[in-house]
Order: sequence, then structure tokens, then C-alpha cells
Amino acid sequence: MIEVENLTKRYGSTLAVDHLSFHAEAGEVVGLLGPNGAGKTTTMRMLTGFMPPTEGTARIAGHDVFRESLEARKRVGYLPERVPIYPDMTVRGYLTFWAELRGVKQPKAQVSTVLEQVHLRDRQNTLIRNLSKGMRQRLGLAQALVHDPPVIILDEPTIGIDPQQVIEVRGMVRSLGQKHTVLFSTHILSEAEQVCDRVIIIDRGRVLAQGAPVSLRQQIQKGTHLYVQISGANAATIQRLLEALPGLESVMPTGDGFTVRTRSKDDLRGEIAQRVVQAGYRLLELRPVAMTLEDIFLDLVQREEAR
Ligand SMILES: Nc1ncnc2c1ncn2[C@@H]1O[C@H](COP(=O)(O)OP(=O)(O)OP(=O)(O)O)[C@@H](O)[C@H]1O
Ligand SMILES: [Mg+2]
Repeated sequence: MIEVENLTKRYGSTLAVDHLSFHAEAGEVVGLLGPNGAGKTTTMRMLTGFMPPTEGTARIAGHDVFRESLEARKRVGYLPERVPIYPDMTVRGYLTFWAELRGVKQPKAQVSTVLEQVHLRDRQNTLIRNLSKGMRQRLGLAQALVHDPPVIILDEPTIGIDPQQVIEVRGMVRSLGQKHTVLFSTHILSEAEQVCDRVIIIDRGRVLAQGAPVSLRQQIQKGTHLYVQISGANAATIQRLLEALPGLESVMPTGDGFTVRTRSKDDLRGEIAQRVVQAGYRLLELRPVAMTLEDIFLDLVQREEAR
């Protein structure tokens, strides 16, 4: 549904998007995950035909976004980073305007459908100026959906809204995946993990890793993380004992204990238990810790920067 090949954007001397390639299949929810300035918005603006690439191609439902711009645009709905607002229009008026602009056959019925979808039906006659930020965001989402496009592109749809609305918008994005191909951007890793079938991690315009959240973790995580809590000696002594273990990457004080990172996937639990008991200390806790996408992300970005 979305095919991106070597997509590149240069602003003067800034390489905002650097030979980016990825794809999204029908019915997939794909997250574009990256820190500020990673190139998420620039990529989305090229995909939605707002800006030509410096190099490379992008296709939406088989149509080149530049050579067949009109055909491609018909098939995509876009919630930009900053939703353009028309404060003096009503909610329904605004959506009807967009529906007619895009040649929707039964604008009235279609507007009612999307109002229902984004839970704004009871606000249809409210002026946009009187909507809360979260409601405006959902109105932006409705605008992206009003012509029922197969592909939906959402640029950080949950930014700047309260936690309750964040949950609501995430739920909407997830359910959009039943009928549409969704590409959405975020810098919140747990959000990508919750909402996406597949995550593409980008930084400085390049893909660092991609895959289902679970397999990404397995792909990238080289060693294992263990949480260990020991009593019977002071923290410095315990840290030295742990640091003497073979195959260790690092030992970090965490809460009342330590997080031990190993270099390989070898299970060090037996070895740790034995040494603690031999030293005459008590082992209070020893368990593997799942690496979060946050950890993976930091790991990747640091590895990249070290290159
Ligand atoms: N119009 C522009 N002119 C010059 N440089 C730009 C322009 N738009 C973006 N950039 C630069 O391109 C890079 C990528 O920016 P982009 O807005 O695509 O990142 P982003 O991932 O969307 O970031 P954020 O999370 O802050 O929204 C940044 O270095 C940015 O400064
Ligand atoms: Mg952005």
C-alpha cells in the first residue's frame, strides 16, 4: 500500500531524510518512531505530495506520489503535525467543506459516519474555536478520514493532548487498522509498541531498525538483563562481587538492587546465586528484566552515534 524507495530530502546542507526505504501492507498499522528532527514530518510531507523529494520514489496504492499526484492523493488521508484550523466554522461545516473538496459522493452521510467514528457527533454544531485541543485533534483525524481513503498518515496524533484523550486517540488509530493502512509517527516508544503491528525506527533520516515490536527486541537485544537484590554486605561490596562475573557488560544500581547486563544470551543466574551464597550473603531477588523499546532505542541511537 505504501512503498518508499531511497526517499531523500535535502534542505540546503541538511540531509533531513537519507535514502529511506520501507513499505506498509494493506491493513497494517506501521509506526515511524524517532526523536525530534529524525525526519518523520519530512517523510510524511513527501508521501502526501506536499513536497517533492530530492531523490527516490514513493507510491501510495501503486500510484507515484509525484508523477500521479492526484491519483495518489485521492487514496490518502493526512493529519499534519499542526492541524490547520478555521475557528469560525462549525465541526460539521468544516468536515462538509473537506468532503466536498475531495468529491465525496454523499457528503452528508459520510460526515455523519466520521463524526461517529471520532466521537464528535454531539459537537457537530460547535464552532471550532470552542473545541478543546483533544477535540480539535480528533476533528483533524475526521478530516483525514472523510473521503474514506485506503491509506491514512498521521503525524504525531497524540501530541499535546491529555492522557484520557491520548488513550482514546490510540484506540482510534488501532481500530483504523482494521480497514485502512495506517502510518503514524511518534517519539513515544511505548505508544508505538501498543498501537503498531510494525515499528520503523529512524534517526537522522535513516532506518536504524524495523520489525514487530517483539521481534525488534529480540533482534537488537544482544545480551540479557537481570535484576539482582542481595543483602549481607554494603552496596559497593556487592557491586564488586557482581562485576567480577565473567561475560558481563555492566552493573547498574537500580532501586534496592542492581541491573546486570550480560554480553551474550548465556544464563548467568546459576553463577550469580552460587557466588552470593559462597560469599556468605543472602540472595533476595534474581530475575530477568525485559528490555523496553526505550532501552532498545537508546541503545541503537548510541551505537549509531559511536560509529
Ligand atoms: N523547511 C525546512 N527547512 C530547513 N530544514 C528543515 C525544514 N523542515 C525540517 N527541517 C530539518 O530537517 C530535519 C528533519 O525534520 P523533521 O521535521 O522532518 O523531523 P521530525 O522527525 O518530524 O521531528 P519532530 O519530532 O521534532 O517533529 C531537521 O533537522 C529539521 O531541522
Ligand atoms: Mg515532526
